[in-house]
Amino acid sequence: MPILYRSGWLCALAMLLPITGAAESPPRSTEALAFNCYTCHAPQVRRGKGDISSLKGKSAATLLQKLRDFKNGAGDATLMSRIARGYSDEELARIAEFLADDLRAQDRKGR
Ligand code: HEC
Repeated sequence: MPILYRSGWLCALAMLLPITGAAESPPRSTEALAFNCYTCHAPQVRRGKGDISSLKGKSAATLLQKLRDFKNGAGDATLMSRIARGYSDEELARIAEFLADDLRAQDRKGR
Protein backbone atom coordinates (compact mmCIF):
# COMPACT_ATOMS: atom_id res chain seq x y z
CA MET A 1 0.00 0.00 0.00
CA PRO A 2 2.73 2.59 0.77
CA ILE A 3 4.06 2.24 -2.78
CA LEU A 4 0.66 2.81 -4.27
CA TYR A 5 0.18 5.77 -1.99
CA ARG A 6 3.44 7.35 -3.13
CA SER A 7 2.76 6.75 -6.80
CA GLY A 8 -0.56 8.49 -6.32
CA TRP A 9 1.33 11.58 -5.25
CA LEU A 10 3.68 11.29 -8.21
CA CYS A 11 0.72 11.15 -10.56
CA ALA A 12 -0.76 14.24 -8.96
CA LEU A 13 2.57 16.04 -9.38
CA ALA A 14 2.87 14.91 -13.00
CA MET A 15 -0.57 16.28 -13.72
CA LEU A 16 0.39 19.66 -12.31
CA LEU A 17 3.53 19.99 -14.41
CA PRO A 18 1.89 20.69 -17.78
CA ILE A 19 -0.20 23.43 -16.18
CA THR A 20 2.78 25.29 -14.72
CA GLY A 21 4.71 24.68 -17.95
CA ALA A 22 1.97 26.23 -20.08
CA ALA A 23 1.96 29.42 -18.03
CA GLU A 24 5.60 30.02 -18.95
CA SER A 25 5.48 28.97 -22.61
CA PRO A 26 6.03 31.66 -25.27
CA PRO A 27 3.14 32.89 -27.46
CA ARG A 28 2.03 30.25 -29.94
CA SER A 29 3.94 30.58 -33.22
CA THR A 30 1.94 32.13 -36.05
CA GLU A 31 3.10 29.47 -38.46
CA ALA A 32 1.88 26.66 -36.22
CA LEU A 33 -1.48 28.38 -35.76
CA ALA A 34 -1.95 29.15 -39.46
CA PHE A 35 -0.86 25.78 -40.88
CA ASN A 36 -3.69 24.25 -38.89
CA CYS A 37 -6.06 26.10 -41.24
CA TYR A 38 -4.71 24.21 -44.26
CA THR A 39 -6.07 20.97 -42.84
CA CYS A 40 -9.39 22.04 -44.34
CA HIS A 41 -8.42 24.96 -46.56
CA ALA A 42 -5.62 23.10 -48.36
CA PRO A 43 -4.82 25.25 -51.40
CA GLN A 44 -3.50 22.35 -53.47
CA VAL A 45 -6.80 20.48 -53.45
CA ARG A 46 -8.88 20.88 -56.61
CA ARG A 47 -12.18 22.38 -55.62
CA GLY A 48 -15.69 22.09 -56.93
CA LYS A 49 -18.80 24.05 -56.16
CA GLY A 50 -19.74 23.84 -52.49
CA ASP A 51 -16.29 22.78 -51.30
CA ILE A 52 -14.43 24.56 -48.53
CA SER A 53 -12.79 27.76 -49.80
CA SER A 54 -9.06 27.66 -50.56
CA LEU A 55 -8.86 31.23 -49.14
CA LYS A 56 -6.70 32.14 -52.15
CA GLY A 57 -6.76 35.76 -53.29
CA LYS A 58 -8.17 37.07 -50.01
CA SER A 59 -6.37 40.00 -48.39
CA ALA A 60 -5.33 39.91 -44.75
CA ALA A 61 -8.03 42.51 -44.01
CA THR A 62 -10.75 40.37 -45.64
CA LEU A 63 -9.59 37.23 -43.84
CA LEU A 64 -9.47 39.02 -40.51
CA GLN A 65 -12.94 40.51 -40.99
CA LYS A 66 -14.37 37.07 -41.78
CA LEU A 67 -12.60 35.51 -38.80
CA ARG A 68 -13.92 38.22 -36.48
CA ASP A 69 -17.43 37.72 -37.85
CA PHE A 70 -17.16 33.96 -37.27
CA LYS A 71 -15.89 34.57 -33.73
CA ASN A 72 -18.81 36.89 -33.06
CA GLY A 73 -21.22 34.26 -34.32
CA ALA A 74 -22.33 36.03 -37.52
CA GLY A 75 -23.80 33.91 -40.31
CA ASP A 76 -24.57 30.20 -40.08
CA ALA A 77 -21.10 28.67 -39.97
CA THR A 78 -20.93 24.96 -39.25
CA LEU A 79 -17.35 24.94 -37.99
CA MET A 80 -15.63 28.29 -38.28
CA SER A 81 -17.39 30.02 -35.40
CA ARG A 82 -16.13 27.30 -33.08
CA ILE A 83 -12.63 27.40 -34.55
CA ALA A 84 -12.37 31.20 -34.48
CA ARG A 85 -13.38 31.30 -30.81
CA GLY A 86 -10.27 29.24 -30.04
CA TYR A 87 -7.98 32.16 -30.88
CA SER A 88 -7.42 35.57 -29.33
CA ASP A 89 -8.09 38.64 -31.52
CA GLU A 90 -4.36 39.24 -31.69
CA GLU A 91 -3.76 35.66 -32.88
CA LEU A 92 -6.47 35.99 -35.55
CA ALA A 93 -4.76 39.14 -36.87
CA ARG A 94 -1.41 37.33 -37.03
CA ILE A 95 -3.00 34.32 -38.76
CA ALA A 96 -4.74 36.55 -41.35
CA GLU A 97 -1.46 38.33 -42.18
CA PHE A 98 0.45 35.08 -42.39
CA LEU A 99 -2.09 33.31 -44.60
CA ALA A 100 -2.50 36.24 -47.00
CA ASP A 101 1.30 36.33 -47.49
CA ASP A 102 1.67 32.57 -47.69
CA LEU A 103 -1.13 32.16 -50.24
CA ARG A 104 0.33 34.97 -52.39
CA ALA A 105 3.73 33.24 -52.27
CA GLN A 106 2.14 29.94 -53.33
CA ASP A 107 0.43 31.70 -56.23
CA ARG A 108 3.75 33.12 -57.40
CA LYS A 109 5.23 29.61 -57.36
CA GLY A 110 2.26 28.42 -59.41
CA ARG A 111 0.87 26.07 -56.75
C1 HEC B 1 -12.11 21.53 -39.63
C2 HEC B 1 -12.05 22.24 -40.91
C3 HEC B 1 -11.62 23.70 -40.87
C4 HEC B 1 -10.50 24.27 -40.30
C5 HEC B 1 -9.42 23.58 -39.48
C6 HEC B 1 -10.54 25.66 -40.64
N1 HEC B 1 -11.63 25.94 -41.40
FE1 HEC B 1 -12.14 27.78 -42.17
N2 HEC B 1 -13.83 26.99 -42.97
C7 HEC B 1 -14.27 25.68 -42.79
C8 HEC B 1 -15.63 25.56 -43.28
C9 HEC B 1 -16.46 24.30 -43.30
C10 HEC B 1 -16.00 26.84 -43.76
C11 HEC B 1 -17.39 27.29 -44.30
C12 HEC B 1 -18.10 28.02 -43.16
C13 HEC B 1 -18.59 27.04 -42.08
O1 HEC B 1 -19.50 26.29 -42.34
O2 HEC B 1 -18.01 27.05 -40.96
C14 HEC B 1 -14.85 27.70 -43.58
C15 HEC B 1 -14.80 29.05 -43.95
C16 HEC B 1 -13.71 29.88 -43.74
C17 HEC B 1 -13.61 31.26 -44.23
C18 HEC B 1 -14.61 31.97 -45.11
C19 HEC B 1 -14.24 31.67 -46.55
C20 HEC B 1 -14.99 32.51 -47.54
O3 HEC B 1 -14.71 32.36 -48.74
O4 HEC B 1 -15.83 33.32 -47.14
C21 HEC B 1 -12.42 31.75 -43.78
C22 HEC B 1 -11.85 33.14 -44.02
C23 HEC B 1 -11.78 30.69 -43.02
N3 HEC B 1 -12.58 29.58 -43.03
C24 HEC B 1 -10.55 30.82 -42.42
C25 HEC B 1 -9.96 29.82 -41.64
C26 HEC B 1 -8.75 30.02 -40.88
C27 HEC B 1 -7.93 31.30 -40.85
C28 HEC B 1 -8.50 28.84 -40.23
C29 HEC B 1 -7.38 28.54 -39.25
C30 HEC B 1 -7.38 29.35 -38.04
C31 HEC B 1 -9.53 27.90 -40.62
N4 HEC B 1 -10.41 28.54 -41.45
C32 HEC B 1 -9.58 26.58 -40.21
C33 HEC B 1 -13.52 24.65 -42.27
C34 HEC B 1 -12.34 24.79 -41.56
